[in-house]
Amino acid sequence: MAALVRENSRFLPPQMADKLTFPARFASMRAMKDNMPETLTISLSLADETATRALGRRLAPLLALGDFVALTGDLGAGKTALARAIIQARYGAGGEDEDVPSPTFTLIQTYETPDLLITHADLYRLDEPEDLRELGLGEALDEGTVLMEWPDRMGVAPANRLDIVLSLEGAPAATARVARLTAHGPSWVRRLNALKL
Ligand SMILES: Nc1ncnc2c1ncn2[C@@H]1O[C@H](COP(=O)(O)OP(=O)(O)OP(=O)(O)O)[C@@H](O)[C@H]1O
Ligand SMILES: [Mg+2]
Repeated sequence: MAALVRENSRFLPPQMADKLTFPARFASMRAMKDNMPETLTISLSLADETATRALGRRLAPLLALGDFVALTGDLGAGKTALARAIIQARYGAGGEDEDVPSPTFTLIQTYETPDLLITHADLYRLDEPEDLRELGLGEALDEGTVLMEWPDRMGVAPANRLDIVLSLEGAPAATARVARLTAHGPSWVRRLNALKL
């Protein structure tokens, strides 16, 4: 995974921090503590599906009860591929044998991974927003983590969440993708910032 860009982090890169005088460094550290940013965005280049799966394995251990992850991007961008890698990683060793089909037609699939219930949703075919209630997504968040493709169909999203936008790069048949991860809220900002990608 190359080309890591921390776009709006207030954490200074080490080379810049070294150039600051001591009081300035102290002030910036205090600002860092007092004004934890509300959002943090990281962009990653993913050369192929193996890189996408590797990202999924890195993200999987971060997930906990009540987490909402929004997966956005064009058809075929790799939202399901990334969700599959996350879910399989949560099963631990041998998890790659777990069947994780796309929820395109079922709208939701649930997975009782060893430590976390994961609901994988795809709202692309959601006809009426009222049908949302029947899917039980509120309960799914109370009981575990929700990974959601096409979250824009919902019209609203939890304030605290991780947004992942996957974009196809280059020719349509090419395997390169860019993943843009945006943490919303202090809990996700802290976790994304701590992630060494
Ligand atoms: N770098 C990559 N990351 C993920 N998938 C890739 C990559 N390169 C190629 N692919 C291929 O792209 C396709 C991604 O399909 P996937 O079902 O994950 O897309 P999706 O974003 O979930 O689409 P949809 O909106 O239809 O649900 C798969 O066929 C996968 O093999
Ligand atoms: Mg999909």
